[in-house]
Amino acid sequence: MLEKIRTEKLRVGMYVILPLSWFIHPFLKNRFSITSEQQIRQMLDCGITEVTVDLSRSTVFEDNEPADRIEQERVPTSIVPDELREAIHDNKLSLPEKANAVHKHSIMMIKRLMEAPTAENIGETKKGIYDVVDLILSDDAISYHLTRITSHDYYTYTHSVSVGVLAVSLSKEMFKRSSSHDMHELGAGFFLHDLGKIFVDETILNKPGKLTDVEMKQIRRHPALGYRILNKTNQLTNECATVVLQHHERDDGKGYPKGLRGSEIHEYGRICSLADVYDALTSERPYRKKLKPFDALKLMKDEMIHHFQRELFEQFVLMLSKPWEDRDPEKSVK
Ligand SMILES: [Fe+2]
Ligand SMILES: [Fe+2]
Repeated sequence: MLEKIRTEKLRVGMYVILPLSWFIHPFLKNRFSITSEQQIRQMLDCGITEVTVDLSRSTVFEDNEPADRIEQERVPTSIVPDELREAIHDNKLSLPEKANAVHKHSIMMIKRLMEAPTAENIGETKKGIYDVVDLILSDDAISYHLTRITSHDYYTYTHSVSVGVLAVSLSKEMFKRSSSHDMHELGAGFFLHDLGKIFVDETILNKPGKLTDVEMKQIRRHPALGYRILNKTNQLTNECATVVLQHHERDDGKGYPKGLRGSEIHEYGRICSLADVYDALTSERPYRKKLKPFDALKLMKDEMIHHFQRELFEQFVLMLSKPWEDRDPEKSVK
């Protein structure tokens, strides 16, 4: 039986399954019995805050403190929840119900991936993302409802799905009539754009106050770390590489990691950057309330327009401001 517990509650004799790929932690294997306290300290030093314990292979068990248990559910065998595929194909659901179910179960898929980002799991997750991309591309009504869902939290997995949905929908508007874009891999890049954040300390990611220079430096590594994990697991495509590396570049050259400007930034990177900022503004953060969609777009226009290419920003606003009834597919494509 598998159970998740906090790293500080681990004890010698427990059989653990680490959530990260072997190349970023100091252990020879991802699964092993803990033989010393030092191994527990090493996990904490690597920023591993929770692990899966296989109770059937452990010789000791955790203290029976229910509060220590992160999650009682069995660790699923499949990364892509069955409920996601069921929701995609369920024609009895109303449009808002279907959109909410697809959004919710996509979040679960990305959460599971971030807990165990192995090559196999990234590959499986990509297939799940392809199905969501196909749904958005084939169904304007669902794509409309999906883009109207705003999140109450800003966990990386929630944010990843919201950005994925928004960026795929904007790409659909931009590239609808072109066959020269691999929308599956582009969608995978959007949904996985922040995968590198699994290597950044969560306390930094969720810090309410201003970040120190050292903390900012850590955050700024996540595009390169995301690139690295996709590359090492043989899951990197040109689309994924572009999106992951360029989603924090800014039109005025003040972004990171390279400080690219204007046309140096690929259209894929720009699309992701727009969706990324919009989702950050419309989500609840520890240090401020979420903005309403209109207010977020206004702030982006009034105070941040130099971050974006203006025409693309206008296309994004158009996509988000049109009521469903008024949508005319012939007008909004390029
Ligand atoms: Fe990011
Ligand atoms: Fe992001």
